[in-house]
Amino acid sequence: MSGAARLLSTSLTAGNDVPEVVGGDGVWFELASGQRVVDASNTAAPLGHGHPAIVEAIRRAATAPVVNEGWGWRERELAADDLAGIAFEGEDWVGAVRFFVSASEANDAALALCQALTGRAPLVTRERAYHGGAGLAREVTVQPQWHGGLSSASGVAPTPRLATVHELPAPTSARVTGHADPTAGNEWLVDARKALAESAAVILDYSQGGVYHSPAYQDRVATLAAEAGAYWIADETVTGFGRVGGWFQFQQGTARPDLVTLGKCMSAGGAAAGAVVLSTRVLDRLAGSSWQSYSTYRAHPVAMAAVRAHLATSSASKLYLRAKDLDAAMLTRMHEVARRHPSVARIDGRGLHWTVELSGPDWRTWQGGEANPIATQVAARALMAGALIATSGEQTSLFVAPPLIVSDAELDLIFDALHQGLELADELTSST
Ligand SMILES: Cc1ncc(COP(=O)(O)O)c(C=O)c1O
Repeated sequence: MSGAARLLSTSLTAGNDVPEVVGGDGVWFELASGQRVVDASNTAAPLGHGHPAIVEAIRRAATAPVVNEGWGWRERELAADDLAGIAFEGEDWVGAVRFFVSASEANDAALALCQALTGRAPLVTRERAYHGGAGLAREVTVQPQWHGGLSSASGVAPTPRLATVHELPAPTSARVTGHADPTAGNEWLVDARKALAESAAVILDYSQGGVYHSPAYQDRVATLAAEAGAYWIADETVTGFGRVGGWFQFQQGTARPDLVTLGKCMSAGGAAAGAVVLSTRVLDRLAGSSWQSYSTYRAHPVAMAAVRAHLATSSASKLYLRAKDLDAAMLTRMHEVARRHPSVARIDGRGLHWTVELSGPDWRTWQGGEANPIATQVAARALMAGALIATSGEQTSLFVAPPLIVSDAELDLIFDALHQGLELADELTSST
Protein backbone atom coordinates (compact mmCIF):
# COMPACT_ATOMS: atom_id res chain seq x y z
CA MET A 1 0.00 0.00 0.00
CA SER A 2 1.41 3.41 -0.89
CA GLY A 3 1.74 6.16 1.73
CA ALA A 4 -0.98 8.25 0.06
CA ALA A 5 -3.50 5.40 0.34
CA ARG A 6 -3.28 5.55 4.13
CA LEU A 7 -4.58 9.11 4.32
CA LEU A 8 -8.30 9.16 4.97
CA SER A 9 -9.46 12.10 2.92
CA THR A 10 -12.35 14.48 3.62
CA SER A 11 -15.10 15.15 1.14
CA LEU A 12 -14.07 18.77 0.60
CA THR A 13 -12.57 18.51 -2.84
CA ALA A 14 -12.56 20.37 -6.11
CA GLY A 15 -13.30 17.53 -8.48
CA ASN A 16 -12.67 13.83 -8.20
CA ASP A 17 -8.94 14.31 -8.58
CA VAL A 18 -7.96 16.35 -5.55
CA PRO A 19 -5.44 18.92 -6.76
CA GLU A 20 -2.10 18.59 -5.02
CA VAL A 21 -0.66 21.90 -3.91
CA VAL A 22 3.13 21.97 -3.95
CA GLY A 23 3.75 25.65 -3.27
CA GLY A 24 2.21 29.06 -2.94
CA ASP A 25 3.02 32.75 -2.89
CA GLY A 26 0.75 35.74 -2.61
CA VAL A 27 -2.70 34.66 -3.75
CA TRP A 28 -1.30 31.91 -5.97
CA PHE A 29 -1.08 28.16 -5.49
CA GLU A 30 1.32 26.05 -7.49
CA LEU A 31 -0.09 22.60 -8.26
CA ALA A 32 1.83 19.36 -8.77
CA SER A 33 0.69 19.48 -12.41
CA GLY A 34 2.75 22.67 -12.82
CA GLN A 35 -0.42 24.79 -13.15
CA ARG A 36 -0.57 28.02 -11.14
CA VAL A 37 -4.06 28.90 -9.91
CA VAL A 38 -5.50 31.78 -7.90
CA ASP A 39 -6.53 30.71 -4.40
CA ALA A 40 -10.09 32.03 -4.39
CA SER A 41 -11.45 30.43 -1.20
CA ASN A 42 -9.11 30.60 1.75
CA THR A 43 -10.26 32.39 4.86
CA ALA A 44 -7.16 31.21 6.75
CA ALA A 45 -4.83 33.22 4.54
CA PRO A 46 -5.73 36.91 4.71
CA LEU A 47 -2.15 37.94 3.85
CA GLY A 48 -1.85 35.27 1.16
CA HIS A 49 0.83 32.58 1.11
CA GLY A 50 4.39 32.99 2.32
CA HIS A 51 3.97 36.58 3.52
CA PRO A 52 7.46 37.74 4.57
CA ALA A 53 6.28 39.15 7.93
CA ILE A 54 4.69 35.82 8.91
CA VAL A 55 7.64 33.77 7.64
CA GLU A 56 10.09 35.93 9.57
CA ALA A 57 8.02 35.80 12.78
CA ILE A 58 7.80 32.00 12.62
CA ARG A 59 11.55 31.70 11.94
CA ARG A 60 12.33 33.72 15.02
CA ALA A 61 9.85 31.80 17.18
CA ALA A 62 11.30 28.44 16.09
CA THR A 63 14.08 28.83 18.67
CA ALA A 64 11.61 29.29 21.56
CA PRO A 65 11.75 26.80 24.44
CA VAL A 66 8.99 24.22 24.88
CA VAL A 67 6.53 26.14 27.06
CA ASN A 68 2.92 25.39 27.79
CA GLU A 69 0.18 27.46 29.35
CA GLY A 70 1.41 26.58 32.83
CA TRP A 71 4.49 28.77 32.34
CA GLY A 72 4.57 32.49 31.75
CA TRP A 73 5.62 33.49 28.24
CA ARG A 74 6.00 37.20 27.54
CA GLU A 75 5.01 36.91 23.87
CA ARG A 76 1.68 35.37 24.92
CA GLU A 77 0.90 38.37 27.11
CA LEU A 78 1.94 40.73 24.33
CA ALA A 79 -0.20 38.85 21.82
CA ALA A 80 -3.24 39.23 24.11
CA ASP A 81 -2.46 42.95 24.51
CA ASP A 82 -2.07 43.36 20.75
CA LEU A 83 -5.31 41.54 20.04
CA ALA A 84 -7.23 43.69 22.52
CA GLY A 85 -5.42 46.93 21.70
CA ILE A 86 -5.25 46.70 17.90
CA ALA A 87 -8.16 44.57 16.63
CA PHE A 88 -10.53 45.54 19.47
CA GLU A 89 -9.37 49.15 19.68
CA GLY A 90 -12.17 51.34 21.05
CA GLU A 91 -14.16 48.31 22.33
CA ASP A 92 -13.75 49.16 25.99
CA TRP A 93 -15.97 46.27 27.14
CA VAL A 94 -13.17 43.80 26.30
CA GLY A 95 -11.84 42.30 29.52
CA ALA A 96 -9.43 39.44 28.75
CA VAL A 97 -8.20 36.97 26.16
CA ARG A 98 -7.45 33.27 26.41
CA PHE A 99 -5.79 31.52 23.49
CA PHE A 100 -6.76 28.12 22.10
CA VAL A 101 -5.50 25.72 19.46
CA SER A 102 -8.43 26.21 17.12
CA ALA A 103 -11.78 27.91 16.76
CA SER A 104 -13.48 24.57 17.39
CA GLU A 105 -11.73 24.34 20.74
CA ALA A 106 -12.41 28.02 21.53
CA ASN A 107 -16.13 27.54 20.81
CA ASP A 108 -16.31 24.36 22.88
CA ALA A 109 -14.62 26.11 25.82
CA ALA A 110 -16.74 29.28 25.52
CA LEU A 111 -19.98 27.27 25.42
CA ALA A 112 -18.87 25.13 28.39
CA LEU A 113 -18.01 28.31 30.33
CA CYS A 114 -21.51 29.67 29.69
CA GLN A 115 -23.01 26.37 30.90
CA ALA A 116 -20.92 26.59 34.06
CA LEU A 117 -21.88 30.22 34.69
CA THR A 118 -25.61 29.72 34.13
CA GLY A 119 -26.09 26.16 35.37
CA ARG A 120 -28.06 25.53 32.17
CA ALA A 121 -27.09 22.83 29.64
CA PRO A 122 -29.06 23.58 26.42
CA LEU A 123 -27.56 25.83 23.74
CA VAL A 124 -28.94 27.97 20.92
CA THR A 125 -27.63 28.63 17.43
CA ARG A 126 -29.28 29.34 14.09
CA GLU A 127 -30.19 26.97 11.30
CA ARG A 128 -27.30 26.03 9.02
CA ALA A 129 -24.67 27.13 11.50
CA TYR A 130 -21.11 25.82 11.46
CA HIS A 131 -19.01 26.30 14.59
CA GLY A 132 -16.44 23.51 14.36
CA GLY A 133 -16.03 19.79 14.78
CA ALA A 134 -15.13 19.23 18.43
CA GLY A 135 -17.14 18.93 21.64
CA LEU A 136 -19.91 21.50 22.07
CA ALA A 137 -18.77 23.31 18.91
CA ARG A 138 -19.74 20.19 16.99
CA GLU A 139 -23.11 20.15 18.74
CA VAL A 140 -23.94 23.65 17.46
CA THR A 141 -22.78 22.66 13.97
CA VAL A 142 -26.29 21.69 13.11
CA GLN A 143 -26.40 20.51 9.49
CA PRO A 144 -26.30 16.68 9.64
CA GLN A 145 -23.69 16.41 6.87
CA TRP A 146 -21.36 18.79 8.72
CA HIS A 147 -21.88 17.22 12.11
CA GLY A 148 -19.29 14.48 11.91
CA GLY A 149 -21.58 11.61 11.02
CA LEU A 150 -21.43 9.22 8.11
CA SER A 151 -22.75 10.18 4.72
CA SER A 152 -23.38 7.78 1.87
CA ALA A 153 -25.61 7.36 -1.14
CA SER A 154 -28.44 6.41 1.22
CA GLY A 155 -28.17 9.65 3.22
CA VAL A 156 -26.54 10.95 6.39
CA ALA A 157 -26.68 8.76 9.47
CA PRO A 158 -27.40 11.00 12.47
CA THR A 159 -24.88 10.83 15.31
CA PRO A 160 -26.13 10.85 18.91
CA ARG A 161 -26.20 14.40 20.34
CA LEU A 162 -24.32 15.50 23.46
CA ALA A 163 -26.49 18.52 24.21
CA THR A 164 -29.94 19.90 23.53
CA VAL A 165 -29.50 22.47 20.78
CA HIS A 166 -32.25 24.88 19.71
CA GLU A 167 -32.07 26.39 16.23
CA LEU A 168 -33.28 29.90 15.51
CA PRO A 169 -34.63 30.31 11.97
CA ALA A 170 -31.97 31.28 9.43
CA PRO A 171 -32.31 34.87 8.22
CA THR A 172 -31.76 33.83 4.61
CA SER A 173 -32.46 37.10 2.81
CA ALA A 174 -29.88 37.65 0.03
CA ARG A 175 -28.38 40.92 -1.15
CA VAL A 176 -27.86 39.87 -4.76
CA THR A 177 -30.80 37.64 -5.50
CA GLY A 178 -33.28 39.51 -3.32
CA HIS A 179 -34.74 36.72 -1.21
CA ALA A 180 -37.15 37.72 1.55
CA ASP A 181 -35.97 37.41 5.14
CA PRO A 182 -38.01 34.76 7.03
CA THR A 183 -37.06 36.45 10.31
CA ALA A 184 -38.20 39.95 9.30
CA GLY A 185 -41.50 39.53 11.18
CA ASN A 186 -42.15 38.61 14.81
CA GLU A 187 -43.52 35.07 14.41
CA TRP A 188 -40.25 33.38 15.42
CA LEU A 189 -39.77 35.41 18.59
CA VAL A 190 -42.06 33.35 20.85
CA ASP A 191 -40.09 30.16 20.22
CA ALA A 192 -36.77 32.03 20.37
CA ARG A 193 -37.64 33.45 23.81
CA LYS A 194 -38.66 30.02 25.05
CA ALA A 195 -35.43 28.42 23.79
CA LEU A 196 -33.21 31.14 25.26
CA ALA A 197 -34.97 31.04 28.63
CA GLU A 198 -33.69 27.51 29.27
CA SER A 199 -30.30 27.88 27.54
CA ALA A 200 -26.78 28.82 28.61
CA ALA A 201 -25.84 30.73 25.47
CA VAL A 202 -26.64 31.62 21.91
CA ILE A 203 -23.79 31.44 19.43
CA LEU A 204 -24.01 33.29 16.11
CA ASP A 205 -21.59 33.34 13.22
CA TYR A 206 -21.92 35.65 10.23
CA SER A 207 -21.33 33.63 7.06
CA GLN A 208 -21.68 29.88 7.35
CA GLY A 209 -24.29 28.10 5.30
CA GLY A 210 -24.43 31.20 3.11
CA VAL A 211 -26.30 33.09 5.86
CA TYR A 212 -25.03 36.67 6.20
CA HIS A 213 -27.52 38.03 8.67
CA SER A 214 -28.14 41.72 9.20
CA PRO A 215 -26.84 43.77 12.14
CA ALA A 216 -30.50 44.17 13.16
CA TYR A 217 -30.90 40.35 13.49
CA GLN A 218 -27.78 40.22 15.65
CA ASP A 219 -29.02 43.02 17.88
CA ARG A 220 -32.43 41.43 18.20
CA VAL A 221 -31.00 38.05 19.23
CA ALA A 222 -28.59 39.80 21.62
CA THR A 223 -31.48 41.60 23.32
CA LEU A 224 -33.53 38.40 23.59
CA ALA A 225 -30.53 36.58 25.08
CA ALA A 226 -29.87 39.30 27.65
CA GLU A 227 -33.56 39.29 28.67
CA ALA A 228 -33.45 35.50 29.06
CA GLY A 229 -30.22 35.45 31.10
CA ALA A 230 -28.34 33.60 28.34
CA TYR A 231 -24.90 34.65 27.10
CA TRP A 232 -24.27 35.76 23.51
CA ILE A 233 -21.14 34.43 21.79
CA ALA A 234 -20.14 36.12 18.52
CA ASP A 235 -18.23 33.56 16.45
CA GLU A 236 -15.95 35.71 14.26
CA THR A 237 -13.78 32.79 13.15
CA VAL A 238 -14.42 33.56 9.49
CA THR A 239 -15.51 37.18 9.53
CA GLY A 240 -12.90 38.55 11.95
CA PHE A 241 -9.77 40.46 10.96
CA GLY A 242 -11.28 42.27 7.99
CA ARG A 243 -12.87 39.48 5.95
CA VAL A 244 -16.17 41.31 5.45
CA GLY A 245 -15.41 44.88 6.43
CA GLY A 246 -13.53 46.29 9.41
CA TRP A 247 -11.99 44.16 12.13
CA PHE A 248 -15.23 42.41 13.16
CA GLN A 249 -18.74 41.97 11.84
CA PHE A 250 -20.44 42.39 15.26
CA GLN A 251 -19.30 46.02 15.08
CA GLN A 252 -21.91 46.67 12.37
CA GLY A 253 -24.62 46.40 15.04
CA THR A 254 -25.06 48.26 18.30
CA ALA A 255 -25.11 45.31 20.74
CA ARG A 256 -21.81 44.01 22.09
CA PRO A 257 -21.15 40.31 22.76
CA ASP A 258 -20.43 38.64 26.08
CA LEU A 259 -17.77 36.55 24.38
CA VAL A 260 -16.09 36.57 20.96
CA THR A 261 -14.49 33.44 19.53
CA LEU A 262 -11.70 33.55 16.94
CA GLY A 263 -9.47 31.24 14.94
CA LYS A 264 -8.69 30.37 11.34
CA CYS A 265 -7.17 33.61 10.01
CA MET A 266 -5.85 34.85 13.37
CA SER A 267 -2.30 33.76 12.69
CA ALA A 268 -2.57 34.42 8.94
CA GLY A 269 -2.00 30.71 8.37
CA GLY A 270 1.27 30.74 10.32
CA ALA A 271 0.24 28.22 12.98
CA ALA A 272 -2.87 26.78 14.61
CA ALA A 273 -4.48 29.39 16.87
CA GLY A 274 -7.84 30.31 18.34
CA ALA A 275 -9.04 32.63 21.08
CA VAL A 276 -11.90 33.47 23.39
CA VAL A 277 -12.27 37.17 24.12
CA LEU A 278 -14.19 37.75 27.36
CA SER A 279 -16.14 40.89 28.15
CA THR A 280 -15.66 42.69 31.44
CA ARG A 281 -19.21 41.54 32.32
CA VAL A 282 -18.13 37.90 32.08
CA LEU A 283 -14.85 38.61 33.86
CA ASP A 284 -16.80 40.17 36.74
CA ARG A 285 -18.90 36.99 36.96
CA LEU A 286 -15.65 35.01 37.18
CA ALA A 287 -14.42 37.04 40.14
CA GLY A 288 -13.47 34.70 42.97
CA SER A 289 -13.29 31.65 40.68
CA SER A 290 -10.88 30.47 38.03
CA TRP A 291 -11.77 29.18 34.57
CA GLN A 292 -10.25 25.69 34.61
CA SER A 293 -9.25 24.89 31.09
CA TYR A 294 -5.81 23.90 29.85
CA SER A 295 -4.18 22.30 26.81
CA THR A 296 -0.56 21.51 25.89
CA TYR A 297 -0.17 23.40 22.63
CA ARG A 298 -2.38 26.41 23.30
CA ALA A 299 -0.67 29.76 22.78
CA HIS A 300 2.36 28.04 21.28
CA PRO A 301 5.24 30.50 20.74
CA VAL A 302 5.02 30.07 16.95
CA ALA A 303 1.29 30.81 16.99
CA MET A 304 1.78 33.86 19.22
CA ALA A 305 4.51 35.24 16.95
CA ALA A 306 2.32 34.75 13.88
CA VAL A 307 -0.72 36.38 15.52
CA ARG A 308 1.35 39.42 16.46
CA ALA A 309 2.89 39.68 12.99
CA HIS A 310 -0.58 39.44 11.41
CA LEU A 311 -2.01 42.19 13.63
CA ALA A 312 0.98 44.47 13.01
CA THR A 313 0.91 43.92 9.24
CA SER A 314 -2.84 44.29 8.83
CA SER A 315 -3.07 47.45 10.93
CA ALA A 316 0.02 49.11 9.38
CA SER A 317 -1.21 48.51 5.82
CA LYS A 318 -4.92 48.97 6.71
CA LEU A 319 -5.54 45.60 5.07
CA TYR A 320 -8.42 44.97 7.48
CA LEU A 321 -10.34 47.67 5.59
CA ARG A 322 -9.72 46.29 2.10
CA ALA A 323 -12.76 43.97 1.98
CA LYS A 324 -14.97 46.86 3.06
CA ASP A 325 -13.56 48.99 0.24
CA LEU A 326 -14.16 46.16 -2.25
CA ASP A 327 -17.74 45.44 -1.15
CA ALA A 328 -19.49 47.58 -3.78
CA ALA A 329 -17.35 46.22 -6.63
CA MET A 330 -17.90 42.63 -5.44
CA LEU A 331 -21.65 43.24 -5.29
CA THR A 332 -21.61 44.48 -8.89
CA ARG A 333 -19.60 41.44 -10.00
CA MET A 334 -22.03 39.11 -8.21
CA HIS A 335 -25.04 40.81 -9.81
CA GLU A 336 -23.41 40.00 -13.14
CA VAL A 337 -22.97 36.35 -12.07
CA ALA A 338 -26.66 36.10 -11.15
CA ARG A 339 -27.71 37.80 -14.41
CA ARG A 340 -25.64 35.57 -16.67
CA HIS A 341 -26.27 32.15 -15.13
CA PRO A 342 -29.72 30.57 -14.90
CA SER A 343 -28.23 27.78 -12.75
CA VAL A 344 -27.64 30.26 -9.91
CA ALA A 345 -30.43 30.28 -7.33
CA ARG A 346 -29.07 32.53 -4.61
CA ILE A 347 -26.05 34.74 -3.95
CA ASP A 348 -25.28 36.50 -0.72
CA GLY A 349 -22.18 37.85 0.95
CA ARG A 350 -20.21 40.85 2.07
CA GLY A 351 -16.75 42.23 1.53
CA LEU A 352 -14.55 39.31 0.48
CA HIS A 353 -16.81 36.44 1.55
CA TRP A 354 -19.55 35.31 -0.84
CA THR A 355 -21.70 32.20 -1.29
CA VAL A 356 -23.10 31.23 -4.68
CA GLU A 357 -25.87 28.64 -4.44
CA LEU A 358 -26.93 26.64 -7.46
CA SER A 359 -30.46 25.50 -8.06
CA GLY A 360 -30.90 21.95 -6.83
CA PRO A 361 -31.98 20.23 -3.65
CA ASP A 362 -32.92 22.57 -0.82
CA TRP A 363 -30.42 22.52 2.08
CA ARG A 364 -33.19 21.55 4.49
CA THR A 365 -33.77 18.27 2.69
CA TRP A 366 -30.39 17.54 1.14
CA GLN A 367 -28.80 14.41 2.62
CA GLY A 368 -25.45 14.14 0.87
CA GLY A 369 -23.86 11.15 -0.75
CA GLU A 370 -24.00 12.17 -4.44
CA ALA A 371 -21.10 10.71 -6.41
CA ASN A 372 -20.24 13.95 -8.19
CA PRO A 373 -22.27 16.93 -6.99
CA ILE A 374 -22.83 19.82 -9.42
CA ALA A 375 -20.92 22.27 -7.21
CA THR A 376 -17.93 19.92 -7.31
CA GLN A 377 -18.08 19.77 -11.10
CA VAL A 378 -18.26 23.57 -11.24
CA ALA A 379 -15.24 23.83 -8.95
CA ALA A 380 -13.30 21.39 -11.14
CA ARG A 381 -14.10 23.43 -14.27
CA ALA A 382 -13.13 26.68 -12.50
CA LEU A 383 -9.87 25.05 -11.45
CA MET A 384 -9.07 24.19 -15.06
CA ALA A 385 -9.76 27.86 -15.83
CA GLY A 386 -7.26 28.96 -13.18
CA ALA A 387 -9.00 29.50 -9.83
CA LEU A 388 -9.48 27.25 -6.81
CA ILE A 389 -13.08 27.90 -5.73
CA ALA A 390 -14.21 25.78 -2.78
CA THR A 391 -17.41 23.87 -2.17
CA SER A 392 -18.44 22.31 1.12
CA GLY A 393 -18.93 18.91 -0.45
CA GLU A 394 -22.58 19.91 -0.89
CA GLN A 395 -24.59 19.62 -4.03
CA THR A 396 -25.04 23.32 -4.57
CA SER A 397 -22.80 25.75 -2.67
CA LEU A 398 -19.63 27.54 -3.84
CA PHE A 399 -17.55 29.99 -1.80
CA VAL A 400 -15.58 32.94 -3.07
CA ALA A 401 -13.26 34.27 -0.37
CA PRO A 402 -9.74 35.03 -1.66
CA PRO A 403 -6.90 36.38 0.48
CA LEU A 404 -7.49 40.03 1.40
CA ILE A 405 -4.41 41.05 -0.61
CA VAL A 406 -6.11 39.99 -3.87
CA SER A 407 -5.64 42.53 -6.68
CA ASP A 408 -8.35 43.72 -9.08
CA ALA A 409 -6.65 41.81 -11.91
CA GLU A 410 -6.66 38.63 -9.80
CA LEU A 411 -10.34 39.17 -9.05
CA ASP A 412 -10.91 39.38 -12.81
CA LEU A 413 -9.27 35.96 -13.13
CA ILE A 414 -11.38 34.51 -10.31
CA PHE A 415 -14.63 35.74 -11.84
CA ASP A 416 -13.58 34.55 -15.27
CA ALA A 417 -13.04 31.07 -13.86
CA LEU A 418 -16.32 31.25 -11.90
CA HIS A 419 -18.22 32.17 -15.06
CA GLN A 420 -16.63 29.23 -16.90
CA GLY A 421 -17.59 26.88 -14.08
CA LEU A 422 -21.14 28.21 -13.98
CA GLU A 423 -21.52 27.76 -17.75
CA LEU A 424 -21.11 24.05 -17.03
CA ALA A 425 -23.75 24.29 -14.28
CA ASP A 426 -26.10 26.07 -16.72
CA GLU A 427 -25.67 23.18 -19.19
CA LEU A 428 -26.11 20.51 -16.51
CA THR A 429 -29.19 22.07 -14.93
CA SER A 430 -30.91 22.89 -18.23
CA SER A 431 -30.60 19.26 -19.33
CA THR A 432 -32.24 17.86 -16.17
C1 LIG B 1 -17.82 30.13 11.90
C2 LIG B 1 -16.85 29.04 12.21
N1 LIG B 1 -16.56 28.76 13.49
C3 LIG B 1 -15.69 27.81 13.85
C4 LIG B 1 -15.04 27.06 12.88
C5 LIG B 1 -14.09 25.98 13.31
O1 LIG B 1 -12.82 26.29 12.92
P1 LIG B 1 -11.66 25.18 12.99
O2 LIG B 1 -12.08 24.08 12.06
O3 LIG B 1 -10.45 25.89 12.49
O4 LIG B 1 -11.55 24.74 14.38
C6 LIG B 1 -15.28 27.32 11.54
C7 LIG B 1 -14.61 26.52 10.48
O5 LIG B 1 -14.89 26.66 9.31
C8 LIG B 1 -16.21 28.32 11.19
O6 LIG B 1 -16.50 28.58 9.91
